[in-house]
Amino acid sequence: MPKGNIKHEILVVAGHDELSIKAAKEFVRIAVDSIQIKKNFTVVLSGGSTPTGLYKLLASDDYREQVPWPNVYFFWGDERCVPPDDKESNYNMARQILLDKVPIPKENNFRMPADQADHAQASAKYEQMIRTFFHTKTEEIPRFDLILLGMGDDGHTASLFPGTPALFEKKRCVTENYIEKLGLYRLTLTVPLINQAKNIIFLISGESKAPVLKKILEGEYQPQKLPSQFIKPVDGRLLFIVDRAAASKLTNFSKYC
Ligand code: 6PG
Repeated sequence: MPKGNIKHEILVVAGHDELSIKAAKEFVRIAVDSIQIKKNFTVVLSGGSTPTGLYKLLASDDYREQVPWPNVYFFWGDERCVPPDDKESNYNMARQILLDKVPIPKENNFRMPADQADHAQASAKYEQMIRTFFHTKTEEIPRFDLILLGMGDDGHTASLFPGTPALFEKKRCVTENYIEKLGLYRLTLTVPLINQAKNIIFLISGESKAPVLKKILEGEYQPQKLPSQFIKPVDGRLLFIVDRAAASKLTNFSKYC
């Protein structure tokens, strides 16, 4: 993000394990606070490989008992258009690593129906599921307690890929998105919905992310090429938890340690 453009926090940790530990602590803190205030915690899970360490920790003896799981409501930030038991499915990954290992009522898991053949219908259905849960009217944007995001080495986040139609969606909360470079559709939350969240946490790990992370945080504002730059909470907290390998090209990155 250009300097002074938005308030965001950057925390640089040693490696992927430390990133997962910090993320787990943040998850538990936000969950407990949210449940204390309003009896529920609404969280959007990210796909990809980076958050798997976090999900494993949350299901572990060290963390599992710290979260009142029956008050937690899981949603997904994006999904591949595959069956829910497919190895590519973000839902399937989270289910195997976390959901099946904690006492969450099935009705608390709001899976994106991306396996539906009609992608437009599937995205509209998921939007309706979110709106019904939050009891929001059409023009009101639902506000999640926490949205977890990853970032690709091309600067995409969720399934908001560079130069794709979903980047320009200003009204809908969920949309189908054709990713030309992958030759396939995905479902994704949109920028307006993500930016409405109370807490947005990017989890970014690995040397391959270092060049694009520098561009995103320190370079020119060009979100159509670097969609993660679109992520600017309207009234919330934006935290980047980054390991040293991914932070290695940031100017004076040691100040974030
Ligand atoms: C997905 C994610 C995607 C992911 C990034 C980073 O469905 O793959 O939602 O946005 O977070 O591509 O992926 P890694 O964590 O595997 O690097």
